[in-house]
Amino acid sequence: MKFFIDTANLNDIREAQALGVLDGVTTNPSLMAKEGITGKDNIMRHYKAICDIVDGDVSAEVISIDLEGMIREGEELVEIDDKIVVKIPMTKEGVKALKYFSGKGIRTNCTLIFSAGQALLAAKAGATYVSPFIGRLDDISTDGIALIEQILLIYRNYGFDTQVLAASVRHPMHIIQCAEVGADVMTGPLNVMEALLKHPLTDLGLEKFLADYNKGNS
Ligand code: E4P
Repeated sequence: MKFFIDTANLNDIREAQALGVLDGVTTNPSLMAKEGITGKDNIMRHYKAICDIVDGDVSAEVISIDLEGMIREGEELVEIDDKIVVKIPMTKEGVKALKYFSGKGIRTNCTLIFSAGQALLAAKAGATYVSPFIGRLDDISTDGIALIEQILLIYRNYGFDTQVLAASVRHPMHIIQCAEVGADVMTGPLNVMEALLKHPLTDLGLEKFLADYNKGNS
């Protein structure tokens, strides 16, 4: 399973890259705003800064909601760097944009996926990735992981090569569950990724090993 970090924070991206397990980055307009990155030029520069840090795909989201605007923005975004994947919302215009970009060999990530039907449409339109938001589904008492399983089954049935990118990951169990059901990618914040490291028995065990070493060497 690929690990993407879901942030526009350059320090977090550097930290995850340094860990050596990072396969890419996802961003969205809210994450950009959270870092105080506003205005088209600054946003484009920020995408370039992200691309310069990571080895892997960097999803950059279009703001337009009409087809022409999505195409114009997407074509500008992919000029920034070869790592850019154009992030397109799941709307009627978005599906047309996915089809347009797949015909041009431009990679896409269809965002705001909340149902298997949406994921099926995105795959038929040639999306490279679909992003089901599992955390936001869990927030409204709907099983996000069950949606991932359902999409994987549908894609397997028909041999779609669209990758299932589990998004809106909120805690380490989401990552484990995504890995259990075979999600192709998960994207989450740095703290959730780092939470995978932690176990109290590891800390206790290490403390004891070091104490015993120091007894023998003091
Ligand atoms: C996906 O690409 C989105 O950026 C993201 O995962 C949304 O997560 P949230 O529900 O925590 O905002």
